[in-house]
Amino acid sequence: MTSTHTIVLLPGDGIGPEVVRETRLVLEELGPAFGLDFRFETHLLGGRAIDETGQSLPDETLAACKRADAILLGAVGGPKWSDPAAKERPEQGLLTLRKELNLYANLRPVKIFPQLRDASSLKPEVLDGVDLLVVRELTGGLYFGPRQEGDERAYDTLLYTADEVARVVRVAARAARQRRGKLTSVDKANVLASSRLWRKTATRVMAEEFPDVTFEHQLVDAMAMHLIRRPADFDVVVSGNLFGDILTDEAAMLAGSMGMLPSASLGDGKQGLYEPIHGSAPDIAGQGVANPLATILSAAMMLRHSFGHDAAAAAIETAVEQALAAGYRTPDLAAITPPDETVEVVGTEAMGAVVREQLRLLTPH
Ligand code: IPM
Ligand code: MG
Repeated sequence: MTSTHTIVLLPGDGIGPEVVRETRLVLEELGPAFGLDFRFETHLLGGRAIDETGQSLPDETLAACKRADAILLGAVGGPKWSDPAAKERPEQGLLTLRKELNLYANLRPVKIFPQLRDASSLKPEVLDGVDLLVVRELTGGLYFGPRQEGDERAYDTLLYTADEVARVVRVAARAARQRRGKLTSVDKANVLASSRLWRKTATRVMAEEFPDVTFEHQLVDAMAMHLIRRPADFDVVVSGNLFGDILTDEAAMLAGSMGMLPSASLGDGKQGLYEPIHGSAPDIAGQGVANPLATILSAAMMLRHSFGHDAAAAAIETAVEQALAAGYRTPDLAAITPPDETVEVVGTEAMGAVVREQLRLLTPH
């Protein structure tokens, strides 16, 4: 039996279109083998959307996303739209989309591919056993509180309600139950009132609903240190919007490159927005050298979370692992790995092709 799924593609800016293209080809390769029929629609978001429609999130894009089963996003932003005086910014489109779809939980798994142990700037022994999941609150906090722009005075507000904290903590605790049963909540409760509410709420939810999950609190500054000193000690980490944004860029360095980390943004239903955690990388856009693996791995998260298809998701993850095992590296991964004749440096399209070839070997035809 074939099941049909509508996927909205939002290639966005910079390297976004290049990495989304490869990921679409991977999904098309995989679909028939698993009885999945994907209907793709492509829409504008971000800087190019501003150029063409004046809006970073055009109405038509938002309507299509609301109808979709899942959304795959490349990246938004770039120097062309970075003028601080600009009325409309590409990033705003993405933030509004997350908010409109109520995608409050952003899952960012950090897994070290054994083939990339040497790609990290950290000592390989620090990376042994690293397998963590950061759950970042995505529709509240400093990103969405009352704000005022200004030349002399400007402010943003870090506001959380107990309900907003409780629902994202539940997502993280459920994930911990499926994994190694440990949850770390990150805040700045020694200074911020919103963090004291965060800590109190998280403590209550965990005691009442998840007594079986080992639970601890960390202050965000200490957590920044622990993440590079003893990353293997953590299982699931839950935090507010801005802290989660910062800590996941740091955590990406454990995996060797921003080009390796996928993410899923989820709400209460099955619909999700899937995107690599890296940005639009304008410096390498259009050169065909961007690493498509974070976006391809985001598609695996889509299969798992939105379509409930673990086997298809695992096939993509295995294909990526095999591509790395066969020695293929995009420049971001090769640059930090010691020179090695078993490694072949390839561009975006070639890396996509290698992943598809590995998929063909793995799937029944
Ligand atoms: C991310 C990005 C975004 C964020 C930007 C592009 C608005 O850094 O997804 O981590 O800050 O959420
Ligand atoms: Mg970020």
